[in-house]
Amino acid sequence: MEIFKTASDMREWSDSMHRAGQTISFVPTMGYLHDGHLSLMEKGASLCSALVVSIFVNPTQFGENEDLDAYPTDIERDLKLIKAKGARAVFLPDKKEIYPENYQTYITLEHLPKHLCGLSRPVHFRGVATIVSKLFNIVRPDAAVFGAKDFQQLQVIRQLNRDLNFGINIIGAPIVRESDGLAMSSRNAYLDPEQRDSALSLSRSCSQAEKMVKAGEKSANAIRSHIKSFIESFPDTRVDYISICDPDTLNEVEEIDTEVLFALAVQVGRARLIDNILIKP
Ligand code: PAJ
Repeated sequence: MEIFKTASDMREWSDSMHRAGQTISFVPTMGYLHDGHLSLMEKGASLCSALVVSIFVNPTQFGENEDLDAYPTDIERDLKLIKAKGARAVFLPDKKEIYPENYQTYITLEHLPKHLCGLSRPVHFRGVATIVSKLFNIVRPDAAVFGAKDFQQLQVIRQLNRDLNFGINIIGAPIVRESDGLAMSSRNAYLDPEQRDSALSLSRSCSQAEKMVKAGEKSANAIRSHIKSFIESFPDTRVDYISICDPDTLNEVEEIDTEVLFALAVQVGRARLIDNILIKP
């Protein structure tokens, strides 16, 4: 498995693979890998002849008071896991390689960031759209795989792929969960045992919202307020948002009569956790 630290080495390798008739699938990550990341790599490996994974904790997608400095890392372990998934190359740049002095260019989307996580994380999707565009230009993949756990991120990337004509096949992969339902996340490492229990309120909220809709509840407000009290009954939780929205535009809905996205973000102790489910009435 090749490990590239510079954009030029990475791109040269990708270009030579393409010249040799290979196709490239790509899984970008911020490392501290778990089974959710590994499922994306399996998907990627099945799509193309060569899988490339990147590890880069992207500073521009973290707000000033967020956990950039605390973000967990374990590169040695990550590299072993990636190798075991059969990846052909890892792109592992440092911050200066990606954002050298006098870096100036950022990608912003008009509408999608004005919802859900974008409201409490105002610079987040600008950082995500910028790094993913840069990674696409460096790795030049034919296909790229992203998790539905970050549903809004997946929609942002689909949109930027269309808007900027990257021509990459963007694949969404399902949320991988612990056996009790908690969506896997590198940030779960922040939870102490009591907070780990409180974190279950997110996946349980998704199941409850789904049950309510399936039982005929049409009022998004009724569901939102029921779920809010449910989450607040768990210690050390603070609801950031509970959204019932159109899965494409992310606009909130009032009456549920077509498929909706139920999505939520909850601060549990130090960890800001998210989860979501698509629900058909
Ligand atoms: P990171 O949080 O490391 O996630 C990398 C990829 O793994 C994303 O596509 C994310 O949706 C997916 N993922 C995370 N948890 C998952 C789970 N439980 N099940 C399925 N997929 C899961 O998302 C990022 O990094 C960054 O924003 C990035 C795209 C790399 C840009 O910096």
